[in-house]
Amino acid sequence: MARVIITGGRRLRGQVRVAGRKNSVVALIPATLLAEGPSHIENLPAIADVAVFAEILRHMGIGVRQDRESMSIDPSGLGPGVAPPQELVQRLRASYYLLGVLLAKYGRAEVALPGGCDIGLRPIDQHLKGFRALGAEAAIEHGVVKVWAPHGLTGAQIYLDVVSVGATINIMLAATLAEGTTTIENVAKEPHIVDIADYLNSCGAKIQGAGTDVIRIRGVKSLTGCVHAVIPDEIEAATFMIAAAATGGDVLIENVIPKHLDPITAKLVEAGAEVTQNGDSVRVTMARQRPRAVNVKTLPYPGFPTDAQQPMTVLLSTAEGTSYVTESIWEGRFKHVDELKRMGTSIRVEGRTAIVEGVPRLMGAPVRATDLRAGAALVIAGLMAEGQTEISGVEHVDRGYERLADKFRGLGAKIVRVKD
Ligand code: EPU
Repeated sequence: MARVIITGGRRLRGQVRVAGRKNSVVALIPATLLAEGPSHIENLPAIADVAVFAEILRHMGIGVRQDRESMSIDPSGLGPGVAPPQELVQRLRASYYLLGVLLAKYGRAEVALPGGCDIGLRPIDQHLKGFRALGAEAAIEHGVVKVWAPHGLTGAQIYLDVVSVGATINIMLAATLAEGTTTIENVAKEPHIVDIADYLNSCGAKIQGAGTDVIRIRGVKSLTGCVHAVIPDEIEAATFMIAAAATGGDVLIENVIPKHLDPITAKLVEAGAEVTQNGDSVRVTMARQRPRAVNVKTLPYPGFPTDAQQPMTVLLSTAEGTSYVTESIWEGRFKHVDELKRMGTSIRVEGRTAIVEGVPRLMGAPVRATDLRAGAALVIAGLMAEGQTEISGVEHVDRGYERLADKFRGLGAKIVRVKD
């Protein structure tokens, strides 16, 4: 177990490089198993979720070679009937993509119910609805999801009842090798969905419309492996952008696609920060002593991302005035609020809205990260606060951030990581 200790009150300055996107790479890794030959993934983030996924593949007999920023996966050792190890599967949300992949390739899959952050109910009914429409049967027994397609998968017309990133990707993965054409309507439009479709198309898939409301997939018989670079992580970038604004700093964030950051940029500008986009970087400066209060509502892309809501709430905790932060994706994503109270914030949660009354300053305190983004939010709070903040539960942060403490230290923060 590790903790992070921060002495707050320093303005962040300098430049920082963003890694590949977590929520893209955790779908790309299983997607490589659809191919017959090896794939090479570049711009790989050094995060715990990637390490766990690599371990799952090795247990399944798949060749995995990993360097600092890339991974080669050779699925030729994989065969029918191989089940991923339950204990590792439960440490990840994205392990559910193995369902779509193994179903497509071998006509059946058995994967334990996935894990991931405790941020609310996380049903997979839309994933199963899609698989069933393609001709599969599905059941959940003793914590294991079982899907099988007695007559193979056949293209179908599927309408998602909720806009779901996971269901969109999982059905797309399954339909890639199905017989005939599949149309998925009301899909999620996150840039990582385009990233996965780009990878699959480079391997020989026929996917159109990723990034819009409707995805059309013409099934192909097989895929070859290919080389693909993961797009930058917009939530890691958002975390640095918010931290820069929250500490009255001046930070250049490199290796980003500025367009993907538009919802964050818009809200930071409303709060009084200056954000300039330049090629593949954004610079955030904040001249105001305290941000202006702004209202935020999380929505599927291109709305304000739920994964940046907790860090944004921290920034607004010292705003002049009252901000209303509404979380419309995950009902349990306000667990950081109780921890923030220890640091002197004045935040009240009513239903799905946090009412954030800005206070002049935060005070350092011992706090606990309850999930990945709550952890990132507490780090930002620690950077803003007077005195020392000690954050436990840092393993949640490691799941999705690459060397977060080192990167903040590079920006002038006084932050150390200690092992218990
Ligand atoms: N939903 C259903 N049925 C389903 C699937 C989803 O009702 O079958 C609901 C969920 O309960 C939720 C909404 O639909 O209210 C959206 O869920 P979605 O399926 O889009 O989320 P996810 O695929 O489980 C991914 C990310 C999350 C991110 C969400 C939303 C991964 C591994 N996780 O989750 O990332 O919050 O999309 O953008 O890609 C994080 O990185 O911190 C994180 C939690």
